[in-house]
Amino acid sequence: MSLGVKSYKAVWDRIAAVREHAFELVDESQDEEALDRSGRENAPFIVNGLSIGPSDTVLEVGCGVARLGRHVAPSAGHWIGVDVSGEMVAIARERCSALDNVTILEGPGDALPDLEDDSIDKCYCHAVFIHMDKEDWFAYLREVRRVLRPGGLFYFDVWNLAHDLGWLRWQMERALYGSKTDRPLHRNQFSVPEELKLMVARAGFELRHLAETFYLQAVCSVPDPEQRVGTSQREAEDAAMGVLRYTEGDDRFFASVLAKRLAEYGQEPEVQLPPSER
Ligand SMILES: C[S@@+](CC[C@H](N)C(=O)[O-])C[C@H]1O[C@@H](n2cnc3c(N)ncnc32)[C@H](O)[C@@H]1O
Repeated sequence: MSLGVKSYKAVWDRIAAVREHAFELVDESQDEEALDRSGRENAPFIVNGLSIGPSDTVLEVGCGVARLGRHVAPSAGHWIGVDVSGEMVAIARERCSALDNVTILEGPGDALPDLEDDSIDKCYCHAVFIHMDKEDWFAYLREVRRVLRPGGLFYFDVWNLAHDLGWLRWQMERALYGSKTDRPLHRNQFSVPEELKLMVARAGFELRHLAETFYLQAVCSVPDPEQRVGTSQREAEDAAMGVLRYTEGDDRFFASVLAKRLAEYGQEPEVQLPPSER
């Protein structure tokens, strides 16, 4: 295990040692009620976008406290969550204790050692690779490629530096840590479409769908030489993937939040904001 990987565990365990901090990570949910609502509202995008059904074994990489998982699992045959933080895993297990098709594992931070080759039908990873060095998210791409069966689908997202709001979010990150040499390992990191496409191809996936808003939202599949997935199923999957995309309303909301936070740092946005927020 590398030093960096050990540190992911340390960093995220420290955050999750305070339950409220573990809850508020993705969308600032303050309590169980808000967290549950957030999961309930967002899980359908994953379920529909990946066409998850009762015969599917589904994996979430970086499941956190099972915000999404608790609401994805009822649509799946078996739901497996993996997280680097034992503290997150403990909360996720407690939150999913009423579900009998759930397995939650603590992983080393760059691999999926407890999962067999070709054992997973669908996988997703939301708001996790943004907190990692490239070497580590590429290692995960290869691991997910290993455990997904031929024809299996994988959704993941990373910040998009090539989008104005992605740039604005990066400006925030520079305002926070720009002059420091000890930037935290879990700080937000950023990518561009060409890089993502390269990583996906080098990991052995076929890129099936890429939405390019402030987030790059990718769905890839494992090539299936025997073409077990027929043309009509592929067409249905391709059509379903569109629901994963963030909307213009999300853009405007996000822009206003970022502009306010940058103002607290005494900074003007370096990009033009969407019309209604100017
Ligand atoms: C922002 S939270 C997102 C949680 C969850 N995906 C969600 O949408 O609610 C990031 C999660 O990724 C996990 N994580 C960070 N680095 C990781 C790594 N190297 N391997 C596995 N999980 C990691 C953290 O412990 C944390 O639970």
